[in-house]
Amino acid sequence: MVGVKNLRQMRDMFSNFIKVKTEEDQKLLNKYGAHNIVVPNEMLGWLRSDHAGETGAVWIYRAASLAYWSKSIRKMAREHLPTEKNHLVIMEHLVQPSERSKLLFLWRVMGFGLGFLSSIFGYSVFCITINAVETFVEGHYKYQITKLRAMKSHQKLLAVLIKCCDEEIHHREDAGRRIQYGSNNAIRKWWVNIIEAGSEIAVKVSNRV
Ligand SMILES: [Fe+2]
Ligand SMILES: [Fe+2]
Repeated sequence: MVGVKNLRQMRDMFSNFIKVKTEEDQKLLNKYGAHNIVVPNEMLGWLRSDHAGETGAVWIYRAASLAYWSKSIRKMAREHLPTEKNHLVIMEHLVQPSERSKLLFLWRVMGFGLGFLSSIFGYSVFCITINAVETFVEGHYKYQITKLRAMKSHQKLLAVLIKCCDEEIHHREDAGRRIQYGSNNAIRKWWVNIIEAGSEIAVKVSNRV
């Protein structure tokens, strides 16, 4: 008998088949080498959390690009946003709708909230926030990359993750260069710890749900 899960997978395969990808999406999949990758079942949790993370990242930068009170924040958000949108297209291609986090709405709201809230506190706080978020994302991808390298399999998936990770490193460095270190180091540390802890929880949850 065909189970509900199998039915969902069949529906995803069908919708993926009939979904006309734009020429731009196709180019992007080529650029990242993301064509013809089947994510093995045991790695779906990882990729689900990657997809959730990229969703959150897009909404962080979307929120920040609305910061009409700071040209510098808007500029950085608009520089980083296209890359995050690219990452999301790739993850949407790799993770079928039925396998995605059921809490995407929450990740969008949290991403938007973090982007907007940190923008309210000004450019330096925004840069510290982005630096902390991108540092976390870099570590998250690097963990998966290290595991995949050790397994000596799924080389195409590995290459996609390496490319995404390299671009997160660029974001992390870019934000880091722009931080103006002041005297409020304790507050900065406290804020970075909160971001790290929150991201850790989000990864754990989106890995499962
Ligand atoms: Fe990203
Ligand atoms: Fe990023």
